Amino acid sequence: MDKRFESIKEEALSKINNAKSVKALNEVRNEYFAKSGLIATLMSKIRELAPNERKDYGQAVNTLKVFLEEKLGAALREAQSNELSEKLESEKIDLTLPGRNLETAPQHPFHLVKDEICDIFIGMGYIIAEGDEVEEDLFNFTLLNMPENHPARDMQDTFYINEKLLLRTHTSPVQARVMQKNKNQPLKMISPGKVFRRDDDDNTHSHQFGQVEGLVIGEGISFSHLKATLDLFAKKMFGPKREIRLRSSYFPFTEPSVEVDVSCHVCNGKGCSTCKGTGWIEILGAGMVNPNVLTMNGYDTEKFTGFAFGVGIERVAMLRYGIDDIRRFYQNDIRFLKEFPKR
Ligand code: PHE
Repeated sequence: MDKRFESIKEEALSKINNAKSVKALNEVRNEYFAKSGLIATLMSKIRELAPNERKDYGQAVNTLKVFLEEKLGAALREAQSNELSEKLESEKIDLTLPGRNLETAPQHPFHLVKDEICDIFIGMGYIIAEGDEVEEDLFNFTLLNMPENHPARDMQDTFYINEKLLLRTHTSPVQARVMQKNKNQPLKMISPGKVFRRDDDDNTHSHQFGQVEGLVIGEGISFSHLKATLDLFAKKMFGPKREIRLRSSYFPFTEPSVEVDVSCHVCNGKGCSTCKGTGWIEILGAGMVNPNVLTMNGYDTEKFTGFAFGVGIERVAMLRYGIDDIRRFYQNDIRFLKEFPKR
């Protein structure tokens, strides 16, 4: 290389060698190769030379330029690769670490049992119909054969929004609504949901609870269909050895009406604390749909008969899981809720 540039070259090389980072090397590069850097300055000097010296001079600057470019380029590549490996090393992710565990809630026993009851009836070909929790007096009482001032309304006192609107006391109003839509068509439905009553809360009463009510209407539907249906339900819900017992009862919307007991699944009917020594546990109310209800909701009683039943969700869940207090369903105590299976 031209002697003129020997010292420039040496100085540049030592700067390159001392620059340990990409940043420092870029600074060196700027010093030499920027628009007004040293190489450009050297090049511009060519104008000051005599024409016969220019070629030689130009070639010498160019050689210096190529040389420094190569050295800088090599040094930059090395620095970049070193910095990348340092970065990768410091940001190393351990892919073998176990993931963070997001704890999912177990299913609430209310929904667990509601779904189970629904599944049993879906398996028997029932459709599910849901309705509003705020209901008209007309559908909750009148169309179910409980006209104004009917004494049976007393047993189902509730929360009134106004004279005509209330929080439903059972899911039967959904049945009245579906009947009115289906007039004189066979029907097989269950209606699950929340219901409300003006009750003083204690371990077996709650002002809010859940029901699944069923309704079957068709030609030739008889009491024996009701009995067989409830017997199958009891066996599916509480075990194949369970038997049912019917006791006559009264509901305004069914005639005849029955209370249904199931043989105790804890003691097998021998008598224990769960069945209060009787061997039987009351689980639901049922009966043949009162002809007045059929007529009021658009069914021809010459042709159609039907049966209906209503089961309390918490009651079934309490028996099933040995829960001693209905209020536990509504207290959100995590220790209680964690006892139940996950979804
Ligand atoms: N609707 C009744 C209740 O809430 C239950 C029931 C339904 C009884 C259908 C008989 C027939 O008490």
